[in-house]
Amino acid sequence: MISLFEKTAIKSLLLSNRSFRSATWSGISDKKGYVTDLGVEFYSALGAGGIGAIITGYQYVMKNGIQLPYMTGNYDDSQIEGLTRLASSAKQFGSSVIGQIAHCGVRANPKMFFDGGEIWGPSAIPDAASGLVPKEMSKNDVRELIEAYANAARRLKTAGFDGVQLHGAHGYGISQFLSAAWNQRGDSYGGNLKKRYLFLAETMEAVRAMVGNEFPVLIKLSANDFVDGGITPEESVQIARRLSDDGIDAIEVSAGSSASPKNLWPIRSKINERENEAYFRDYALMIRQSANVPVITVGGIRSLETIEDIFESGHADYISMSRPFVREPGLIDRWKSGDRTKAACISCGGCFETGLKGQGISCKVDREAQSNR
Ligand SMILES: Cc1cc2nc3c(=O)[nH]c(=O)nc-3n(C[C@H](O)[C@H](O)[C@H](O)COP(=O)(O)O)c2cc1C
Ligand code: SF4
Repeated sequence: MISLFEKTAIKSLLLSNRSFRSATWSGISDKKGYVTDLGVEFYSALGAGGIGAIITGYQYVMKNGIQLPYMTGNYDDSQIEGLTRLASSAKQFGSSVIGQIAHCGVRANPKMFFDGGEIWGPSAIPDAASGLVPKEMSKNDVRELIEAYANAARRLKTAGFDGVQLHGAHGYGISQFLSAAWNQRGDSYGGNLKKRYLFLAETMEAVRAMVGNEFPVLIKLSANDFVDGGITPEESVQIARRLSDDGIDAIEVSAGSSASPKNLWPIRSKINERENEAYFRDYALMIRQSANVPVITVGGIRSLETIEDIFESGHADYISMSRPFVREPGLIDRWKSGDRTKAACISCGGCFETGLKGQGISCKVDREAQSNR
């Protein structure tokens, strides 16, 4: 049986254990996405906790790809210097670091566009949350975006990151192209699944050409959009097989988006019992059984018992967590030291608040306890 605390490698990505910190926007960069001292301190604290690989929050690859405030940008070479500081702070105690790159497409927030610009989408279908209608991207726009992904991956490699993760989940840019709910194009990028996959295929090819075969390229993929006409589990298996053939190095399996019913969002609350934990593990298993690629499961993992069970039952090769590390960056080291108490995070979702003010995400429960002292 595989164990959480064994060393592994995915190509040149060295992992001191089988844990990932799932990509987590943290509200730590400046208004144009440049890394700040706050960001460097934030990743230094995470790096001290014994996590196998830390995946950064989503980094926008074009100025009109931003969604949340103080999101990290990766759209210009002048950002390499800050990204280098961020990578070395995250890596200083032995964790590896991976940059997640994204364009939010229809879900980008034009209020955050500091240089103007239009919202882009595969098709002119209004965003479920804002109601805003994007411009249907031209083929030139598509080419520009693919180049932006490839350049973002190059910057990460130059900055000392150990890998790149494409954000292909949660209803953002790549998953909008994959999903018939957002992609109703009549050209080579829309139609059947093979055509909807073309944008991702070309992005992978451009990224690979830029970073070479040895640099790990991962993806976070939605196994189910939970919306009418959206990606189904069966389609996600086909996508995973294609990705594996096209040279992806690992797939982190998630699902849902803010367009899905709230109880099916990727970030869920009320994970109080063991049976509520690891809510996407069955999708991870499905993909692990059908595609020849390491699989990471994310979503509501809170206890060592659940992790051991995931490995014993063969649901995934790796586990990934987000909110537990907001409250306890040192959770993995704590478990390793023999304290098997489950993560202290109560999954309330309160960690966003300070991030939205540009102060970095932090645990609301701890903040309130401190202010009551
Ligand atoms: C504050 C916050 C920011 C997040 N930002 C991202 C992100 O940038 N990219 C991403 O793929 N997922 C993001 N997520 C989702 C997490 O990576 C993860 O999929 C989800 O929270 C479920 O895992 P958990 O139960 O361990 O928190 C974010 C979640 C939270 C709570
Ligand atoms: S505020 Fe604290 S307890 Fe609530 S989800 Fe965030 S880390 Fe967990």
